[in-house]
Amino acid sequence: MEKILDVREMVPKDRHSKIFGTFKELKPGESFVLINDHEPKPLLYQFQAEHHGEFNWWPLETGPQVWRVAIAKREVNDSKRTVTEYLQTDHKRLDNIFNKFLEDVKDKNWDKASKDFREFRIGLKRHIRAEEDILFPVFEQKTGMHEGGPTAVMRMEHKEIQELLDKILSATDSKDSAQIPNTTNALVNILTDHNMKEEHILYPESDEFLSEAERSEVVKKAQAF
Ligand SMILES: [Fe+2]
Ligand SMILES: [Fe+2]
Repeated sequence: MEKILDVREMVPKDRHSKIFGTFKELKPGESFVLINDHEPKPLLYQFQAEHHGEFNWWPLETGPQVWRVAIAKREVNDSKRTVTEYLQTDHKRLDNIFNKFLEDVKDKNWDKASKDFREFRIGLKRHIRAEEDILFPVFEQKTGMHEGGPTAVMRMEHKEIQELLDKILSATDSKDSAQIPNTTNALVNILTDHNMKEEHILYPESDEFLSEAERSEVVKKAQAF
């Protein structure tokens, strides 16, 4: 069962100590979902300042009334973070949510399908934005490869991926099970290949070109998206 900490009814001054207490009690590999009534950015910055090597931060719902974020304790506590490890962990996490969504559709559990797909879509869009706005510019600058380089291909594929996300969302919201197999298969095909290229080429090369401080900076900026 997923651990949930809803701080909306708590007096603001007690919230942070409760949240950090809950994080402390997690075993490596465990996570909890924080529910809040505003974007918890100051909390993220406090986590980054005090627990940089220990946690992952995965927004699941981003307003306008409710914010939910999964806060995970990493298996390893290592402040030397890498682009590869951070973004590859996010790929795996997103794959898991997507598989839950496919199960929901199979069970015709449309409410859960819609909730799970929204989590997936928010996570993947955020992941893509972090790549395009934070990682790719650094990669392009360090390698001198712009057009014709790997990031240009990745950007094109991101467009296709985002179009498919919109199509699947509207098929899910209209409970149009006939449209789901085509669009989800197309997404799986493109994502499998795309993620593999990133994990085997783009991310490791980025780690090689970046200094330890720059790698940490990419992770911190990506978390704050
Ligand atoms: Fe990507
Ligand atoms: Fe990626």
